[in-house]
Amino acid sequence: MKISVIGAGYVGLTTAACLAQIGHDVFCGEKDPEKLARLRSGKLPIFEPHLDTVIDAACKAGRLRFGSTEEAVEWGVAIFICVGTPPLPNGDADLHAIEAVASIIAKRATGYRLIVEKSTVPVQTGAQLRRHLGGHRTRSLDYDVASNPEFLREGTSVEDFLHPDRIVVGVESARAADMLREIYHPIIDQRIACPLHADCPPRKAPRFLVTDTNSSELIKHASNSFLAMKISFINMVSDLCEAAGADINKVAEGIGLDPRIGPSFLQPGIGFGGFCFPKDLQAFVRIAEKFGCDFTLLKEVERINQKRVDLMVEKIKTELWVLRGKKLCVLGLAFKPNTDDIRFAPALSIIRRLQTEGAQIQAYDPKAMDRAMQEIPDITYCQNVYEAAQNAAAVVLLTEWKEFQNLDWERLSGLVDRPLIIDGRNCLSRDVVASHGFEYVGLGGISAAAQIPAAVVNG
Ligand SMILES: NC(=O)c1ccc[n+]([C@@H]2O[C@H](COP(=O)([O-])OP(=O)(O)OC[C@H]3O[C@@H](n4cnc5c(N)ncnc54)[C@H](O)[C@@H]3O)[C@@H](O)[C@H]2O)c1
Repeated sequence: MKISVIGAGYVGLTTAACLAQIGHDVFCGEKDPEKLARLRSGKLPIFEPHLDTVIDAACKAGRLRFGSTEEAVEWGVAIFICVGTPPLPNGDADLHAIEAVASIIAKRATGYRLIVEKSTVPVQTGAQLRRHLGGHRTRSLDYDVASNPEFLREGTSVEDFLHPDRIVVGVESARAADMLREIYHPIIDQRIACPLHADCPPRKAPRFLVTDTNSSELIKHASNSFLAMKISFINMVSDLCEAAGADINKVAEGIGLDPRIGPSFLQPGIGFGGFCFPKDLQAFVRIAEKFGCDFTLLKEVERINQKRVDLMVEKIKTELWVLRGKKLCVLGLAFKPNTDDIRFAPALSIIRRLQTEGAQIQAYDPKAMDRAMQEIPDITYCQNVYEAAQNAAAVVLLTEWKEFQNLDWERLSGLVDRPLIIDGRNCLSRDVVASHGFEYVGLGGISAAAQIPAAVVNG
């Protein structure tokens, strides 16, 4: 099918690449000239594992091209809107990019079009879109509006798109449902040339859930808010563990063994960030307020999350006392591993706070440093962990990149001023780092003093 994707960000590029991968003829429209120029020269404006190879293959096969929004709108019979919906200062989702795309569709598209909201939007946005198109369209445009929220996770977006656990579509006509089923047919049947696994193991077919547009829109906000709630819950319990002398890692394991709860999203840490959870939670609360529903529960989830930054800064101050003039080795800037995305990353908030206390930050992140430099230019960006550790008063881990779990601890302990690790993600083995002479401070009662080498103990 001829498909257009509007917006070449994390969601739009993955959608365009994967729809081309499963055989569609895709045009991806982007309004940012710099991004567009990069894409046209074969470079990606973001880092996302495997996306470069899928895009490269699709372009070479002639199934994916990039251009302006106007060109894209004229191309596809289905148009997937994947533009950003950032938060306004009051927490509402800013829908101006959605409206701008709708205006271009109304002006430029002719014949029948299925307009699909893939961006995360508040309930009733579909109805609003229908009204807007109805009021501005040329007479030759016939259209359906559908909702198809995206559940991919940055860092595993290609895998999530091609092997999802569910595909949700919100429609108001059988024609729209049929078209979406046809578009996703290879994924629903899991009959895809999987670019990720040479010998792709048989997968469980995802559930294709058809609802009305309002319900589909609500499913996305409710899903993200629920996951955010799980994270704040475990962080809250983590604080109690720390105060009462329990071990949050064991407590989380025990809770997660209940299949009704499950083990994921039960990792204590410095809080959730990124372009989804913080803004979607806020937007969901605002929507509820507008409809007169009491969402105090989710306000608390947000409040607990914001306090994680204070908690981490306090932890660092407790260990180091005065921060002024001290060098801190900060590992991780991205809001999560395997992405270069720093939007609403708690690491950046923590760094800013440490800077105001006078600390000198020596940071390293495998992928997010270029982006972080735009936001925080006045820290030292290092080539690797060991450079960042030089003469540091502590190693502060803020993003749980896998490579941080397998460091040369012996080498590291020789570089730092004091062998102290403050693990904001509870992702290191306290016993391993302690055996290399590090004091370890984690969250939720997970700490360990450096182990005295056997030679010393034995005299
Ligand atoms: N990032 C995620 O993990 C994720 C996951 C699921 C859903 N979502 C939702 O998907 C949407 C997009 O998120 P993202 O992370 O991809 O955002 P993004 O900021 O990375 O990408 C949005 C892109 O849209 C482009 N754009 C804006 N207006 C345009 C226009 N008129 N024409 C063409 N392009 C235009 C921007 O220049 C940008 O490149 C948001 O609503 C987000 O909440 C994001």
